[in-house]
Amino acid sequence: MSIRNRIEVMHGVNLDQLGRRPAAHYGNVTFEQLQFRIDTYGAELDLSLRFFQTNAEHEFVEYLHRSDQLADGLVLNPGAWTHYSWAIRDALEIASLPTVEVHLSDIHAREEFRRASVISDLCLATVTGQGPEGYREALARLKQELGA
Ligand code: DQA
Repeated sequence: MSIRNRIEVMHGVNLDQLGRRPAAHYGNVTFEQLQFRIDTYGAELDLSLRFFQTNAEHEFVEYLHRSDQLADGLVLNPGAWTHYSWAIRDALEIASLPTVEVHLSDIHAREEFRRASVISDLCLATVTGQGPEGYREALARLKQELGA
């Protein structure tokens, strides 16, 4: 059997604006720097990563529809869509891939509306409030799941 080590790292709305968002929650890293760090974690874990980001919900949904052809597992940070997008939840269910949810900030220690995640119960794990490091944990969890 071929190695199952292809991970799609998907970022949603406003994550491309990192570096301009409140540093108290997100630190100072830009989106490019974040992706570079995630790529480093992937290389350390011998995983093959691809990245996708969009601010358009339908593009996120359509990418999820295709994801089973591109990847063996997903790391998902949908940004604010996490809290209310039933469309993304349904698309994730269709994708039916092992998924870890990541948030840079601690969504449980912020406003009430951020505490709910409509995707959590479809995910193997949720990593929240660990900044960029959280992606390392997410990738390690997926590697374990995939036996990669
Ligand atoms: C976020 C948390 C969300 O509540 C917020 O809307 C984001 C980023 C995070 O990574 O901490 O855009 O997903």
